[in-house]
Amino acid sequence: MQIKIAPSILSADFSAMGEAVKKLEACGADIIHCDVMDGSFVEPITFGGQMVKNIRPLTKLPLDAHLMIKHPKTQIKFFAEAGADIITVHYKACAEISPNYLEETLRMIKSYGVKCGAVVNPDVPVENIFPVFPLCDMVLLMSVYPGYGGQKFIPETLSKITAAREYAAAIGKGDMDIEVDGGVTEENCARIKAAGANVIVAGSTVFRSADMAATIAALKR
Ligand code: DX5
Ligand code: ZN
Repeated sequence: MQIKIAPSILSADFSAMGEAVKKLEACGADIIHCDVMDGSFVEPITFGGQMVKNIRPLTKLPLDAHLMIKHPKTQIKFFAEAGADIITVHYKACAEISPNYLEETLRMIKSYGVKCGAVVNPDVPVENIFPVFPLCDMVLLMSVYPGYGGQKFIPETLSKITAAREYAAAIGKGDMDIEVDGGVTEENCARIKAAGANVIVAGSTVFRSADMAATIAALKR
């Protein structure tokens, strides 16, 4: 499967976001990962749909909006209209509201013609989102607890990746994107890809690098 590197702009300098996005594209990034935090589902607040709207004209790359927010349905319109290419929502935020909320939210995303995905935290079994695999363009397995960049990769994620890839294949979606987010380094990336992930989020590894293009190329190899 094609490996896609999705640098997270959470690690960028927010006062120069446009430049950061252009640099990521020039350095070979495949996707721009936008970490949306609400100060409630996770402690920090980052940005909302306006950021996606403002960076949209600056890059041809797909914009991947990772919504770490409660009540995601209330925000889908804003991210869709801002030009997000894919929007992912957390199982946990949805399950707290109602058993059907995740599926309803995914259908709402699709109704805007935007790709959709479900996300599981490290302590949520990937099996919990198997029922929505048929609806998802991508699933995102968190390999850290969301909220902060620069955390350490949780190795138990590897078996979840494999389980997700096997289940996707079993339902005839062998080419579904499986994204991993958190603590990815040049050192552990090969194992993550071997387990079955093909969309690799990397925040601090890319932004702390002295040679962004070389680091993105190394993660992709
Ligand atoms: C964590 C975010 C991640 C984060 C990854 O809540 O969802 O996308 O930016 O950062 P690194 O790669 O530094 O772990
Ligand atoms: Zn993220």
